[in-house]
Amino acid sequence: MTQPILHTLICSTRPGRVGPGVAEWAHAAAVAHGGFDARLVDLASFGLPVFDEPEHPRLGRYVHEHTKAWSASVNAADAFLFVLPEYNYGPPGALINALNYLVREWQYKAVGFVSYGGVSGGMRSVQVTKGLLTTLKMVPMLEAVAIPFVAQQLQAEGGIAANAVHGAAATAMLDELLRWTKALQGLRA
Ligand SMILES: Cc1cc2nc3c(=O)[nH]c(=O)nc-3n(C[C@H](O)[C@H](O)[C@H](O)COP(=O)(O)O)c2cc1C
Repeated sequence: MTQPILHTLICSTRPGRVGPGVAEWAHAAAVAHGGFDARLVDLASFGLPVFDEPEHPRLGRYVHEHTKAWSASVNAADAFLFVLPEYNYGPPGALINALNYLVREWQYKAVGFVSYGGVSGGMRSVQVTKGLLTTLKMVPMLEAVAIPFVAQQLQAEGGIAANAVHGAAATAMLDELLRWTKALQGLRA
């Protein structure tokens, strides 16, 4: 069996974001895990405007090229690792918007989190996001990586100064993500 495709998704899109630095570490952890065909995907690169499709996305009748490109990307993934910041105790609007764009492409896929922020390490954002994901028939993982005070973890040469706790949490999360990804393959067939 070929390895399932994992998209590590940079969920923040603002100029000056720290998301790519965190994602660099998360993607490296996914590659090192060895269970996935791990790929890094930047939500910002799709340039999605506020949802502008005329029909409900469950129909898949997209009129805009940006939607077709986003649909093709999400469709290609078997699982996701969301690199998720916390904005006002929730996920960034860019992620909510990107989730709203599609329906079938998300269904029966598992999602792990590497969250970050201030004192909470983005955990409140993860909890809010879980409700959106289950409405799309996705399966969010309990095991997760939370990085508090992310600004203090950034390294001058890029990436973050992750510690052994982060590494162990990433392994536990990726093990569980692989287990669910394999289990869900039958539902998507
Ligand atoms: C609009 C906004 C709201 C924020 N709200 C929170 C928050 O509720 N909790 C928190 O821990 N950090 C909060 N922060 C701090 C972010 O977690 C921090 O700036 C982080 O770097 C954002 O990720 P990004 O740089 O990839 O966009 C907020 C930042 C912004 C820009």
